[in-house]
Order: sequence, then structure tokens, then C-alpha cells
Amino acid sequence: MTGDAELIRIAREAREYAYSPYSGFRVGAALLCADGTIYKGCNIENRAYGPTNCAERTAFFKAVSEGKKEFAAIAIVGGGEEPVWCYPCGVCRQVMAEFCEPDSFQIICARSEREYKVYTLEELLPEMF
Ligand code: THU
Repeated sequence: MTGDAELIRIAREAREYAYSPYSGFRVGAALLCADGTIYKGCNIENRAYGPTNCAERTAFFKAVSEGKKEFAAIAIVGGGEEPVWCYPCGVCRQVMAEFCEPDSFQIICARSEREYKVYTLEELLPEMF
């Protein structure tokens, strides 16, 4: 069973591949599936701005496109040179709502393996559609 610290380490690894020449904000995510597999994602920006994809959605779309539909947790690490507190945007929260149990899916927002906060999806997206 993957622990919080290990998932955060993998999200930091994913952050290495962030493509963010326009914002300079680098985000990595590690999505833990119910079967124990992990999908990594980074943010991918675009010169037209609008097509930019967040790290969280990159991880979800990779996983869903490989047949995964059940998820346990996601770790998120984002910032400039050093990680800051980085929370998923509204669009990513809605994507999570499509696939995750509101009261049990864990969203781990981390600055490091030792400094992190854990939320349920319900806490970050109350009264969801
Ligand atoms: N971003 C993410 O990838 N995830 C978040 O949780 C917040 C924002 C990205 C989008 C954009 O590439 C950059 O961070 C600045 O908003």
C-alpha cells in the first residue's frame, strides 16, 4: 500500500517534466488507483493559453485512457523554484468528481514529504454537481 510520503515523492518526480514556459509555475501530480497502480501527470501549457492542461487532469486522463476508473488518492506538488501550497483548480475538482468518491478520495497537497495537508474531495468541492 502506497503511503502519503511515497505518493508525494512521485508527484515531485512528475513535476520535473512540467512544461510551463508561460507561467513558470511547475506542478506534478501522482494519482493512486484503487488497484495500487500510480499515474503521474504534469502541467502542460500552450502558447494560446486556453489549451493548457493541469497536472491533475493529465494524470486522470492518462489513467482513464488506460482503463482505470477507481481512485484512492492524488498527491499534488506545485510552485516556482520551490513548492508552495498548491490546490487543484475548479476544473480539476470537477474532473475528480466524475470518478471519485467524495467522502473517501484523498487530495494530498504537499510542499514536501513532511509538510502536507490531506483533504477529501467533498471538503474541496462541497455541493458538487
Ligand atoms: N496548475 C496545475 O497544473 N495544477 C494546479 O493545481 C494549479 C494550476 C497549472 C496550470 C498552469 O500551467 C499553471 O499551473 C499556472 O496556473
